[in-house]
Amino acid sequence: MEQTAETKYTLTDEAFKELRDIIYKTSGIYYSESKKYLLESRILKRIQTLKLNSLYDYVNFIKNPANKGELKNLFDAITINETYFFRAEQQFEAVEKIIIPELIRNKSGQSGQIVIRIWSAACSTGEEPYTLAMIVLEKIKPIYPNVQFQILGSDISNQVLEIAKSGVYKEYSVRNMPDSYLKKYFIAKDGYYYLKDEVKRLVRFSNINLFDASQVRLVSNCDIIFCANVLIYFDIPAKQKVVSLLYDALNPGGYLFIGYSESLHGISKAFKLVHLPKAIAYKKE
Ligand SMILES: C[S@@+](CC[C@H](N)C(=O)[O-])C[C@H]1O[C@@H](n2cnc3c(N)ncnc32)[C@H](O)[C@@H]1O
Repeated sequence: MEQTAETKYTLTDEAFKELRDIIYKTSGIYYSESKKYLLESRILKRIQTLKLNSLYDYVNFIKNPANKGELKNLFDAITINETYFFRAEQQFEAVEKIIIPELIRNKSGQSGQIVIRIWSAACSTGEEPYTLAMIVLEKIKPIYPNVQFQILGSDISNQVLEIAKSGVYKEYSVRNMPDSYLKKYFIAKDGYYYLKDEVKRLVRFSNINLFDASQVRLVSNCDIIFCANVLIYFDIPAKQKVVSLLYDALNPGGYLFIGYSESLHGISKAFKLVHLPKAIAYKKE
């Protein structure tokens, strides 16, 4: 039967559910029925690239265990990667002025070098971990020159991680950045902003799927975790699983920050809710 435009570019309810379940089981991202059109539009490019005839063929393609590698491309296609420098301004200010000094105080009794480990889990194109790295360089290092900082940025999408590693940004990403940081840590050229090596070398990037316990468990002993604006894409059981894994990755006394519009209400009781002057954080006691 010749396929009409409708069957080529739209999914039957059954095929949508199959694809939705594959996405959910592998990433925790939950597409409700009302987002069917969004999912369809996001995977259209994949059928063009793979030269398939329809979205229905794509569902069959991805179901085939021989095409397991396609999952990475599916994640690139379906994730929403909105981010920018200094997005969570008040949280960053709390990290600089309250959290890091407190962590350093608590660690100063220990023998050996003080190390602070920060993880930006779901960092997209890297603006969040790089903002933290610039704050460390600009505000923390002058006061605590001997403290070592390890900053990890991770995401499920390789496409965004490649941009993060390149450190090259458009105007959109830097629009909220204080001018002094822009001038000091970037080189502007031909409409792009190139992050300087002194910032880039402070951050390590890795592909980590937060819904995959075996991957998350590779990260441990964190003092601060940012997991912002990603839990919104998960359903409640997926949020519970991810937050519990992040809890395990934190040191006692460590802090979790989530997005301004997100909450752990009904998700986890393990943390202590801490009210900072302009932000809230979740502390592992
Ligand atoms: C909207 S961005 C948030 C970026 C940054 N944290 C911020 O707040 O500006 C959400 C990111 O979460 C990533 N993501 C979605 N599901 C994920 C998962 N299961 N594991 C890791 N990252 C995931 C997406 O690829 C996307 O880059």
